Amino acid sequence: MEKLIIKGGNPLKGEVSITGAKNSAIAILPATLLCSGTCTLHNVPNIIDVKLSCEILEQLGSKITWINKNSLLIDNRNITKTKAPLDLTSKFRASYYLIGAMLSRCKEIEVGLPGGCNLGARPIDQHIKGFEALGAVANLSQGKIYVKAEKLVGSNIYMDTVSVGATINVLLSSIFAEGTTTIDNAAKEPHIVDVANFLNSLGADIRGAGTDLIKVNGVKSLKDNVTYSIVPDQIETGTFMLAAIASKGDLTIRNCIPEHLDSLTSKILEVGGNVESYGDTLHVWSTNRPQKTVIKTLPYPGFPTDLQPQMGVVLSVADGTSIINESIWESRFQYTAELNKMGARITAQGKSAIFEGVEYLSGAPVYATDLRAGAALVIAGLIAKRHY
Ligand code: EPZ
Repeated sequence: MEKLIIKGGNPLKGEVSITGAKNSAIAILPATLLCSGTCTLHNVPNIIDVKLSCEILEQLGSKITWINKNSLLIDNRNITKTKAPLDLTSKFRASYYLIGAMLSRCKEIEVGLPGGCNLGARPIDQHIKGFEALGAVANLSQGKIYVKAEKLVGSNIYMDTVSVGATINVLLSSIFAEGTTTIDNAAKEPHIVDVANFLNSLGADIRGAGTDLIKVNGVKSLKDNVTYSIVPDQIETGTFMLAAIASKGDLTIRNCIPEHLDSLTSKILEVGGNVESYGDTLHVWSTNRPQKTVIKTLPYPGFPTDLQPQMGVVLSVADGTSIINESIWESRFQYTAELNKMGARITAQGKSAIFEGVEYLSGAPVYATDLRAGAALVIAGLIAKRHY
């Protein structure tokens, strides 16, 4: 169990450079399976989920060489297996992208059902709906999903729920499908656009990624020997922005895409923070106690659910009473109990939480209930006035 000891009470000041997006890299890595040769990826975040993705791909037959800390060469000429190791795939959420990718590559795959942060029910019914619409047959049993298709034929698919994972997975399975596939009510996150841009750089024919209607014209094959750089991480950028505001600090955030954070910037200005952007750089600072506000998380371009816990830390010390309505996940307020151990006054009920702002937080032993809750607790540790 990893443990961080944080001595807080100082404003966060300085410069930081954003790395590649986790939720793009763990989709683009399996997407390289659509290429029967080699791909070079740059700006790859050097994190556990990426290393897990690489380990799974290597067990399928990929050869992966790290060129430097954030670049790798992946050779998919000898993919020999169609069964992904259950012990690895159950460790994180994005293992389900192997289904869409391997359906396209060899029309058959068996994967352990995905794991991922405990945010409540995380069904994959929309993924399966898409695969079946293209002609595949899916069987779920004993914690595994086996998907097979004689052939894949383009279809018009309407997503009952706006789903990042299902949008990407159905996109992956449609690339070589005969004819045209449309994905309606698609998710629009920056990492979906990044996956589509990567596949189009290989010769796929995808239009409309980033809108709620994506159209894919099936192609016969993709190029190889392609080089691609992963998009900067929207959520990492937003986390640093909120750390600057919570700590009344002053951060220059480089190698980011400010436009991906418009909804957060608007809320930071609303609570009295300052944000200026210059090209791929953001300057974020604050000298005052944050003001109260109301947040509702929504699919992109709405306020991202993955920045909700970090915003919760800012609101826990804001002047006045704030509310967060979480519309995506049924269990994303577990972090509030941890903040209350630090002196916050938060009442979480179902998909809403009320934050009665306190003057300051105090140090305490707390537990990271999920990835973004962990980031939020680091910010809380940074601003805690007293050490326990
Ligand atoms: C992705 O999860 C991200 N994970 C999550 O980030 C993020 O919170 C989420 O998108 C929303 O932006 C990765 O990209 C690996 P969804 P995903 O499918 O794809 C329901 C992080 O911290 N749904 O967009 O699993 C679902 O229950 C993680 O980086 C169905 O009902 O999320 C949820 O209510 C945490 N049926 C909503 O849709 C389905 O088949 C959105 O889920 C699929 C989803």
